[in-house]
Amino acid sequence: MKTIIVFIITILMLTSMAYAAESMIWGNMLIGNILSYGTKDSLNMGPLFTILQSQYFRNIFLVIVIGVPAVFLMHYLVLGARFFSHDGKKVYVFSLFNRLIHLLAAISFLVLIPTGLMMIFGVYFGGGPLVMTARHLHGLATALFFLAVIPMFFFWVADMLPTVDDIKWIAIFGGYLSRKQSEVPAGKFNAGQKMWFWIATLGGIVMIATGAAMYFQDFNLGIASAFGLSQIDLLRASAIVHNIMALLITALFITHVYMSLFAVKGAINSMITGYKEEQELKYLHSSFYRKLKAQNKI
Ligand code: HEM
Repeated sequence: MKTIIVFIITILMLTSMAYAAESMIWGNMLIGNILSYGTKDSLNMGPLFTILQSQYFRNIFLVIVIGVPAVFLMHYLVLGARFFSHDGKKVYVFSLFNRLIHLLAAISFLVLIPTGLMMIFGVYFGGGPLVMTARHLHGLATALFFLAVIPMFFFWVADMLPTVDDIKWIAIFGGYLSRKQSEVPAGKFNAGQKMWFWIATLGGIVMIATGAAMYFQDFNLGIASAFGLSQIDLLRASAIVHNIMALLITALFITHVYMSLFAVKGAINSMITGYKEEQELKYLHSSFYRKLKAQNKI
């Protein structure tokens, strides 16, 4: 029995030594990685990463998760929600496939954002197994988001290209700073929705790539060396980019949910049934409405 245990331990040690020799972080690479902290021949990613990670990211996240909902609460209390008649015609705008893929994206984000925040504020959750579970759920939800983001990009990209309406929409903040019901210049999607689309899809793909790098950590795809980076610096760069994008995406996600659930009453129905109220299109997507009228689709 003793011989078997010694044999197993020896095999495990040899395997881990072989693995360490192949490792991009540990083993032979470890000394070099430590020495390159902050030296001129590395990109000085070490000190930059340490300062951002220890002093800035957590505080900025706190400002976003408290500040953005607070601004929208004020908006809701002062200017209130928009109502549109439900007695008029309804127009079919989102296919079942659009809605199912969107649902997949929504579910993945409802896991990604809380678990991401749990990692950022891990110290307040006591670290350990709870935060590790959050980390694995974050990885799982990333895979789900990956399934959603590719089709979503392709079925909406044509409607998301910039138009002159977008400049006019931005100039009046989409009409959201006034109580007056007037026609807002926008096609099927307005400038705010387009911005969300590009950040959520292209930004989402950057999040997947940088997130995967941090999740798997020790791999060699030749990416780091192609840019003259050590593996540790590649991970630091991934963490910096991932955090900055996450700040932006979290702020826009809260905005998207506020617009869909609170700012425009009943807007969520379009993502459930596929239909939008004629009045909502007439006022909030006036160019699209005129186009549909001209084509006798309303
Ligand atoms: C709980 C989460 C979510 C809710 C309640 C929600 C709700 C909605 C609603 C109601 C619409 C239709 C808006 C309209 O045209 O009137 C919409 C559209 C859209 N959603 Fe979401 N959504 C959620 C999550 C997401 C996520 C995670 C993504 C992307 C990763 C996403 C991307 C989009 C895009 C690109 C559109 C089209 C442009 C826009 O309307 O903003 N949504 N969503």
